[in-house]
Amino acid sequence: MKIIMLGAPGAGKGTQAKLIAEKYGIPHISTGDIFRANIKDGTQLGREAKEYMDKGLLVPDELTVKILLDRVAKEDCKDGYVLDGFPRTIPQAKVLDAALCEIGDQVDFAVNVDVPDENIIRRMGGRRACLACGATYHTEYIPPKSEGICDVCGKQLVLRDDDKPETVKNRLDVYHKQTQPLIDFYQEKGILKGVDGTVPMDDVFAAITAILG
Ligand code: AP5
Ligand code: MG
Repeated sequence: MKIIMLGAPGAGKGTQAKLIAEKYGIPHISTGDIFRANIKDGTQLGREAKEYMDKGLLVPDELTVKILLDRVAKEDCKDGYVLDGFPRTIPQAKVLDAALCEIGDQVDFAVNVDVPDENIIRRMGGRRACLACGATYHTEYIPPKSEGICDVCGKQLVLRDDDKPETVKNRLDVYHKQTQPLIDFYQEKGILKGVDGTVPMDDVFAAITAILG
């Protein structure tokens, strides 16, 4: 099963993608997580990506597409995957389609997690992320067992650099201009499924599993 998660920054794509990956036994692939891991390791890709990410801008397609195509070509992706944060532009979606078409394949579901901008701003300030294992928490809605410490790997939780209020506003603007058009793109293909992302995390997940089966 090949699934794409759509939704504004902070809509809960990552939260739901992790649950989907566990339930269906497929890899969770987040281009944002890949970039953050590269930033942490000080790679050339990380340095280039950080310049855009810190401003709330998209990393250019030339850098993003190759990384994603290399990742989905790996052995663990042969039975499917859940993509979180990719595609984010129409050209990215077209490249993915073309690559899948070449191997006689296609995306099965594009799940749009719908959350209005007002809710997003509140969520981002409370988000805490583990840069070591990728786990995500919220100080109010989904707190870790011990404050500031990751439940999964015990490392320190941080506020992401791009979760500062000015940057969040830019990310939302960029989302509306460059990523939201993907909703119509997948609607036209007949694979778009929408869920209300404002309800508690478990209820969002129940709505998604009702769709995926
Ligand atoms: P990325 O890491 O993908 O960030 P994003 O899309 O901005 O999304 P987020 O990770 O911020 O939010 P999310 O939807 O995953 O929400 P989460 O589950 O954490 O990308 C970062 C940057 O990398 C981009 O800005 C861009 O520069 C670059 N990039 C990445 N991919 C790219 C691409 N393809 N092309 C170009 N550039 C790219 O949830 C948010 C918070 O809410 C958490 O605290 C969570 O605990 C909480 N929460 C979740 N669900 C609920 C709920 N139901 N109720 C209450 N709280 C909830
Ligand atoms: Mg995420």
